Amino acid sequence: MTMHPATRFPVTVVGYPADVAALPARDATAMSSPSATEIRRLARELYKPVRPPTRWFQALRPRICPFDELIPRVPPGATVLDVGCGAGVFLGLLAAVGRIDAGLGFDASGGAIDAARVMAAALPPGQGKRLHFEHRDASAPWPEGTFGVVSLIDVLHHIPPRVQAQVIVAAAARVAPGGRLIYKDMAIRPRWSAWANRLHDLVMAREWIHYRPVSEVRQWGIAGGLELESEGRKRLYWYTHEWLIFKRPTVSSENAAATAPL
Ligand SMILES: C[S@@+](CC[C@H](N)C(=O)[O-])C[C@H]1O[C@@H](n2cnc3c(N)ncnc32)[C@H](O)[C@@H]1O
Repeated sequence: MTMHPATRFPVTVVGYPADVAALPARDATAMSSPSATEIRRLARELYKPVRPPTRWFQALRPRICPFDELIPRVPPGATVLDVGCGAGVFLGLLAAVGRIDAGLGFDASGGAIDAARVMAAALPPGQGKRLHFEHRDASAPWPEGTFGVVSLIDVLHHIPPRVQAQVIVAAAARVAPGGRLIYKDMAIRPRWSAWANRLHDLVMAREWIHYRPVSEVRQWGIAGGLELESEGRKRLYWYTHEWLIFKRPTVSSENAAATAPL
């Protein structure tokens, strides 16, 4: 098994370091697919140890991001690489509901990573020790190895257009055979909604964002060797969300396709 040199995080899907393996078994209860209401309650709990305003923003995040749609796309017991994890809310929720075995998040913002670490440290050991967070830009080398799930949630519109395709292809390359890439971003249509989100990012992140049509992201994922499993769309207040769920074929299904009669 390959270990990430800095974090000793397991970067293959076959095993974990001794300290994670020794933890109590995951509590895979009915909570592992929580409702939107339950997710909002969990986010408030997760960020109580984090200082405002990050505490407030993260507690509000599930109101404007459809985590209730994304969490069920993560196979129970997966290892997850969350690219542009922010303050770690997706991994925190997955760990808190006992859905994952381990999660590694990285983000270009040092402040967000500090908040993610505070959040994870306050979780019970069986949940928090399964999470690791790194301050890292997507333009720097990525953690090595493959993961059962790679997620990019509301990150691509913050990435310069010239490297957006590379980021999707790099994310696809980290998906283990049989694993999934979960991509979620803001929709370009309707225009009024895209503009409302653009204003949000101008105020909150002081950034002029770069939307990319979901049709292009679909093509990049497929070019990265993935199959599209499902896609969806949902509006929460004035925010319109789109997501794509890709799957990397297992080696045997790739062989089956290669040997199938024409
Ligand atoms: C809207 S936030 C989403 C955070 C998190 N995925 C979530 O769902 O809460 C976008 C995040 O992308 C991060 N980001 C933007 N550009 C990045 C880059 N080049 N490399 C890594 N992270 C980046 C930002 O720092 C920010 O935390």
